[in-house]
Amino acid sequence: MKRQLEPELMEDEAQVKAYAEADFSQPHQNFVSLFNEIFCQQHDYVLDLGCGAGDISYRFAKANPDCIVHGVDASETMLAWAQKDPRRASIKNVHFFNRYLPAEQLPRSSYDAIISNSLLHHLPEPQVLWQTIKQGSQPKTKILLMDLMRPARLQQAQQLVQTYAANEPAILQHDFYHSLLAAFTIEEVQAQLNAADLALACRIISDRHFIVYGSFN
Ligand SMILES: C[S@@+](CC[C@H](N)C(=O)[O-])C[C@H]1O[C@@H](n2cnc3c(N)ncnc32)[C@H](O)[C@@H]1O
Repeated sequence: MKRQLEPELMEDEAQVKAYAEADFSQPHQNFVSLFNEIFCQQHDYVLDLGCGAGDISYRFAKANPDCIVHGVDASETMLAWAQKDPRRASIKNVHFFNRYLPAEQLPRSSYDAIISNSLLHHLPEPQVLWQTIKQGSQPKTKILLMDLMRPARLQQAQQLVQTYAANEPAILQHDFYHSLLAAFTIEEVQAQLNAADLALACRIISDRHFIVYGSFN
Protein backbone atom coordinates (compact mmCIF):
# COMPACT_ATOMS: atom_id res chain seq x y z
CA MET A 1 0.00 0.00 0.00
CA LYS A 2 1.37 3.43 -0.97
CA ARG A 3 1.92 6.08 1.68
CA GLN A 4 -0.96 8.62 1.89
CA LEU A 5 0.02 11.93 3.49
CA GLU A 6 -2.08 13.48 6.24
CA PRO A 7 -1.99 17.19 7.15
CA GLU A 8 1.47 17.97 8.48
CA LEU A 9 0.62 20.21 11.44
CA MET A 10 -2.12 19.49 13.97
CA GLU A 11 -3.73 22.91 14.36
CA ASP A 12 -7.47 22.31 14.36
CA GLU A 13 -8.81 23.09 17.85
CA ALA A 14 -11.25 20.14 17.99
CA GLN A 15 -8.60 17.70 16.76
CA VAL A 16 -5.99 18.99 19.21
CA LYS A 17 -8.46 18.95 22.12
CA ALA A 18 -9.35 15.32 21.40
CA TYR A 19 -5.65 14.41 21.13
CA ALA A 20 -4.62 16.35 24.25
CA GLU A 21 -7.44 14.86 26.32
CA ALA A 22 -6.98 11.28 25.11
CA ASP A 23 -5.40 8.80 27.48
CA PHE A 24 -1.97 7.99 26.04
CA SER A 25 -0.57 7.37 29.51
CA GLN A 26 0.52 3.79 28.85
CA PRO A 27 2.38 4.18 25.53
CA HIS A 28 3.84 7.53 26.57
CA GLN A 29 5.05 6.29 29.97
CA ASN A 30 6.43 3.14 28.26
CA PHE A 31 8.36 5.39 25.88
CA VAL A 32 9.95 7.27 28.79
CA SER A 33 10.75 4.00 30.62
CA LEU A 34 12.24 2.56 27.45
CA PHE A 35 14.59 5.52 27.19
CA ASN A 36 15.75 5.04 30.77
CA GLU A 37 16.15 1.26 30.23
CA ILE A 38 18.22 1.68 27.06
CA PHE A 39 20.44 4.51 28.27
CA CYS A 40 20.17 4.63 32.11
CA GLN A 41 22.27 7.78 32.35
CA GLN A 42 21.81 11.37 33.38
CA HIS A 43 20.95 13.75 30.52
CA ASP A 44 21.29 17.47 30.91
CA TYR A 45 19.50 18.94 27.92
CA VAL A 46 16.82 16.93 26.13
CA LEU A 47 15.03 17.89 22.92
CA ASP A 48 11.51 16.53 22.25
CA LEU A 49 10.83 16.97 18.51
CA GLY A 50 7.17 17.40 17.54
CA CYS A 51 6.18 17.49 21.22
CA GLY A 52 2.50 18.24 20.51
CA ALA A 53 0.60 18.96 23.74
CA GLY A 54 3.70 17.99 25.71
CA ASP A 55 2.58 14.82 27.48
CA ILE A 56 5.86 13.00 26.83
CA SER A 57 7.91 16.13 27.59
CA TYR A 58 6.27 16.37 31.03
CA ARG A 59 6.60 12.64 31.71
CA PHE A 60 10.26 12.65 30.69
CA ALA A 61 10.99 15.72 32.82
CA LYS A 62 9.26 14.19 35.83
CA ALA A 63 11.15 10.90 35.49
CA ASN A 64 14.46 12.77 35.02
CA PRO A 65 14.22 15.78 37.35
CA ASP A 66 17.83 16.82 36.80
CA CYS A 67 17.42 17.33 33.08
CA ILE A 68 15.92 20.24 31.16
CA VAL A 69 13.47 19.32 28.40
CA HIS A 70 12.90 21.54 25.37
CA GLY A 71 9.69 20.59 23.54
CA VAL A 72 9.39 21.97 20.01
CA ASP A 73 6.37 21.98 17.71
CA ALA A 74 5.05 24.26 14.98
CA SER A 75 1.41 24.12 16.05
CA GLU A 76 0.41 27.07 18.27
CA THR A 77 -2.75 25.16 19.18
CA MET A 78 -0.72 22.22 20.48
CA LEU A 79 1.74 24.47 22.31
CA ALA A 80 -1.12 26.37 23.98
CA TRP A 81 -2.34 23.04 25.43
CA ALA A 82 1.19 22.23 26.56
CA GLN A 83 1.52 25.60 28.29
CA LYS A 84 -1.77 25.29 30.16
CA ASP A 85 -1.18 21.69 31.28
CA PRO A 86 -1.80 21.55 35.05
CA ARG A 87 1.53 19.70 35.50
CA ARG A 88 3.28 22.94 34.59
CA ALA A 89 2.83 24.13 38.18
CA SER A 90 4.91 21.28 39.59
CA ILE A 91 7.18 20.17 36.73
CA LYS A 92 9.43 23.16 36.13
CA ASN A 93 12.15 21.59 33.99
CA VAL A 94 10.19 21.74 30.70
CA HIS A 95 10.12 24.61 28.21
CA PHE A 96 8.20 24.80 24.94
CA PHE A 97 9.24 26.50 21.71
CA ASN A 98 7.48 27.17 18.44
CA ARG A 99 9.75 25.86 15.67
CA TYR A 100 8.76 24.68 12.21
CA LEU A 101 11.20 21.95 11.17
CA PRO A 102 13.55 22.19 9.44
CA ALA A 103 14.53 25.14 11.62
CA GLU A 104 17.54 27.35 11.06
CA GLN A 105 18.15 27.32 14.80
CA LEU A 106 17.02 24.95 17.52
CA PRO A 107 16.54 26.39 21.05
CA ARG A 108 20.08 25.11 21.87
CA SER A 109 22.89 24.35 19.47
CA SER A 110 23.21 20.76 20.73
CA TYR A 111 21.55 18.33 23.12
CA ASP A 112 22.53 15.41 25.34
CA ALA A 113 19.44 13.48 24.27
CA ILE A 114 16.83 13.78 21.52
CA ILE A 115 13.45 12.08 21.70
CA SER A 116 10.49 12.11 19.34
CA ASN A 117 7.18 10.29 19.21
CA SER A 118 4.87 10.23 16.19
CA LEU A 119 6.42 13.16 14.34
CA LEU A 120 7.97 11.21 11.45
CA HIS A 121 4.69 10.11 9.87
CA HIS A 122 3.51 13.74 9.73
CA LEU A 123 6.44 14.87 7.62
CA PRO A 124 6.03 14.94 3.83
CA GLU A 125 9.84 14.74 3.61
CA PRO A 126 11.21 12.34 6.25
CA GLN A 127 14.80 13.59 5.98
CA VAL A 128 13.61 16.69 7.84
CA LEU A 129 13.58 14.60 11.01
CA TRP A 130 16.90 12.82 10.44
CA GLN A 131 18.69 16.04 9.47
CA THR A 132 17.24 17.84 12.51
CA ILE A 133 18.53 15.03 14.72
CA LYS A 134 21.99 15.50 13.19
CA GLN A 135 21.71 19.27 13.64
CA GLY A 136 20.86 19.00 17.34
CA SER A 137 23.33 16.23 18.18
CA GLN A 138 26.84 16.24 19.55
CA PRO A 139 29.10 13.20 20.02
CA LYS A 140 27.28 10.62 22.20
CA THR A 141 23.85 12.31 22.07
CA LYS A 142 21.29 9.65 23.01
CA ILE A 143 18.48 9.25 20.50
CA LEU A 144 15.12 7.50 20.88
CA LEU A 145 12.28 7.85 18.42
CA MET A 146 9.01 5.95 18.16
CA ASP A 147 6.40 5.96 15.42
CA LEU A 148 3.66 3.97 13.75
CA MET A 149 4.34 1.48 10.94
CA ARG A 150 2.27 1.52 7.75
CA PRO A 151 0.35 -1.75 7.35
CA ALA A 152 0.46 -3.61 4.04
CA ARG A 153 -3.29 -3.25 3.38
CA LEU A 154 -6.15 -0.86 4.18
CA GLN A 155 -8.03 -3.68 5.94
CA GLN A 156 -5.14 -4.09 8.37
CA ALA A 157 -5.28 -0.38 9.19
CA GLN A 158 -9.04 -0.67 9.79
CA GLN A 159 -8.41 -3.71 12.00
CA LEU A 160 -5.83 -1.81 14.09
CA VAL A 161 -8.31 1.02 14.62
CA GLN A 162 -10.92 -1.51 15.76
CA THR A 163 -8.47 -3.22 18.10
CA TYR A 164 -6.96 -0.13 19.74
CA ALA A 165 -9.37 2.77 19.26
CA ALA A 166 -12.90 1.35 19.02
CA ASN A 167 -13.96 3.21 22.19
CA GLU A 168 -12.25 6.49 21.31
CA PRO A 169 -14.07 9.55 19.87
CA ALA A 170 -14.62 9.44 16.08
CA ILE A 171 -12.08 12.21 15.53
CA LEU A 172 -9.32 10.16 17.20
CA GLN A 173 -10.27 7.03 15.24
CA HIS A 174 -10.09 9.08 12.04
CA ASP A 175 -6.67 10.47 13.01
CA PHE A 176 -5.29 7.06 13.96
CA TYR A 177 -6.45 5.51 10.67
CA HIS A 178 -4.93 8.29 8.57
CA SER A 179 -1.73 8.26 10.64
CA LEU A 180 -1.33 4.54 9.85
CA LEU A 181 -1.71 5.29 6.12
CA ALA A 182 0.83 8.14 6.38
CA ALA A 183 3.39 6.11 8.32
CA PHE A 184 6.50 4.48 6.89
CA THR A 185 7.40 0.82 6.66
CA ILE A 186 10.40 -0.40 8.61
CA GLU A 187 12.28 -0.91 5.32
CA GLU A 188 11.64 2.71 4.33
CA VAL A 189 12.88 3.92 7.72
CA GLN A 190 16.04 1.82 7.41
CA ALA A 191 16.66 3.32 3.95
CA GLN A 192 16.15 6.84 5.37
CA LEU A 193 18.73 6.15 8.11
CA ASN A 194 21.21 4.85 5.53
CA ALA A 195 20.67 7.89 3.32
CA ALA A 196 21.22 10.17 6.33
CA ASP A 197 24.32 8.21 7.30
CA LEU A 198 22.92 7.67 10.80
CA ALA A 199 24.11 4.47 12.49
CA LEU A 200 21.03 3.95 14.64
CA ALA A 201 19.21 0.68 15.40
CA CYS A 202 15.66 0.17 14.18
CA ARG A 203 13.39 -2.33 15.96
CA ILE A 204 9.71 -3.33 15.79
CA ILE A 205 8.21 -3.24 19.30
CA SER A 206 4.51 -3.96 18.68
CA ASP A 207 2.02 -4.73 15.89
CA ARG A 208 1.98 -0.99 15.04
CA HIS A 209 5.11 0.65 16.47
CA PHE A 210 8.83 0.70 15.79
CA ILE A 211 11.64 2.48 17.60
CA VAL A 212 14.91 3.96 16.36
CA TYR A 213 17.62 4.32 18.98
CA GLY A 214 21.31 4.68 19.61
CA SER A 215 24.06 7.20 20.21
CA PHE A 216 25.20 9.82 17.74
CA ASN A 217 28.84 9.41 16.68
C1 LIG B 1 0.98 13.08 16.34
S1 LIG B 1 1.59 14.53 17.06
C2 LIG B 1 2.69 13.85 18.28
C3 LIG B 1 2.78 14.72 19.50
C4 LIG B 1 3.61 14.17 20.64
N1 LIG B 1 4.97 13.86 20.24
C5 LIG B 1 2.96 12.97 21.27
O1 LIG B 1 3.49 11.87 21.18
O2 LIG B 1 1.88 13.14 21.88
C6 LIG B 1 2.72 15.17 15.82
C7 LIG B 1 3.13 16.62 16.09
O3 LIG B 1 4.14 17.00 15.16
C8 LIG B 1 3.92 18.36 14.80
N2 LIG B 1 4.63 18.62 13.53
C9 LIG B 1 4.38 18.08 12.32
N3 LIG B 1 5.23 18.55 11.40
C10 LIG B 1 6.05 19.44 12.05
C11 LIG B 1 7.14 20.27 11.62
N4 LIG B 1 7.58 20.29 10.35
N5 LIG B 1 7.74 21.05 12.55
C12 LIG B 1 7.32 21.05 13.84
N6 LIG B 1 6.28 20.29 14.29
C13 LIG B 1 5.66 19.48 13.41
C14 LIG B 1 2.41 18.48 14.74
O4 LIG B 1 1.96 19.82 14.85
C15 LIG B 1 1.98 17.61 15.91
O5 LIG B 1 1.83 18.37 17.09
